[in-house]
Amino acid sequence: MYLADDKRYEKLPYVRCGKSGLKLPLVSLGLWHNFGSNGVYDLMQQMCYTAFDAGITHFDLANNYGPGIGAAESNFGRILRDGLGIYRDELIISTKAGYRMWPGPYGEWGSRKYLAASLDQSLKRMGLDYVDLFYHHRPDPETPLEETMTALDQIVRSGKALYVGISNYNQEQTRQAAKLLKSLGTPLLINQRRYSLLDRKIETDGTKQLAAANGVGIIAFSPLAQGLLSDRYLAGVPEDSRIRTDGRFLKETALTPETLQRIRSLNDLARARGQTLAQMALAWIVRDGEVTSVLVGVSRPEQILDNTAIAQSPPFTAEEIEKIERIVS
Ligand SMILES: NC(=O)c1ccc[n+]([C@@H]2O[C@H](COP(=O)([O-])OP(=O)(O)OC[C@H]3O[C@@H](n4cnc5c(N)ncnc54)[C@H](OP(=O)(O)O)[C@@H]3O)[C@@H](O)[C@H]2O)c1
Repeated sequence: MYLADDKRYEKLPYVRCGKSGLKLPLVSLGLWHNFGSNGVYDLMQQMCYTAFDAGITHFDLANNYGPGIGAAESNFGRILRDGLGIYRDELIISTKAGYRMWPGPYGEWGSRKYLAASLDQSLKRMGLDYVDLFYHHRPDPETPLEETMTALDQIVRSGKALYVGISNYNQEQTRQAAKLLKSLGTPLLINQRRYSLLDRKIETDGTKQLAAANGVGIIAFSPLAQGLLSDRYLAGVPEDSRIRTDGRFLKETALTPETLQRIRSLNDLARARGQTLAQMALAWIVRDGEVTSVLVGVSRPEQILDNTAIAQSPPFTAEEIEKIERIVS
């Protein structure tokens, strides 16, 4: 029987999410890859246990995470049933709806019909009565935002989610969603956006600044650029890397000579700081306190421990920040 480490709450900081009452661990675990129908169950279970033992209370899923849509939720449901679930009140479990799940006009996007049905399916797959956080996964160009936000508000009132978030919404869409949700009495908790040393769109489109100014949290997904911002690809493409084992979203063409040069220079700087490149890339995201949590993916338990060690990361000097700017711009 799994018993969690007694010292799990001494390892990571817990950061208040915007102006809400909820704190999230500085590092969260995402189940987008390596938890699908092609994964190894024992390894998935070990990764979740290692994460929780390391202080990670927040597990991020979506209805479509697989391969095999719904597979990651089903596997996570099994992990909960097999042991982790005894800690349900210590867990923040997130899921999302927005991408295509079933055929026909009600199987994707942002209608009330789709969101309500999808969340019911997610709860069934995970064997839960409620999720802690339910996201609209991507903006819907056709459904009125009022309908999508009202659906989120009603989901909270129904008790099926405690908090709501949005994902992949830009600055203006975030502003409008936050305003609508505020008027409905269910504040927007968080915006989940891609953010890394190789993708700084949330800085340039103003989403990061807007969230900070409006008391909305930001959680950064793909903070390691799917593994590029690590030592994985410094000496070629390993057979057990995401590029080789999955390749649906991260392709070898991403490893251009320019990107490789940047990764190598960043790696030299990380080494000079006495840490791994993955640690420096994560620490850089949370450097100014405006990002609530970095949402990492992993393929093995050791990567979790490497990533959570950012709790001990040295602060960046002005000179290091300048060097990083020169490398990535
Ligand atoms: N809202 C959205 O639209 C959206 C989109 C994408 C992702 N997400 C969320 O964000 C989560 C994370 O995304 P991601 O998986 O792309 O994140 P990521 O952290 O950028 O990449 C994860 C990959 O990096 C490598 N890695 C992780 N830690 C490492 C370490 N310490 N040393 C060396 N390599 C390391 C592993 O690659 P190998 O497998 O090669 O070992 C791992 O699979 C997802 O699981 C999901 O929850 C949300």
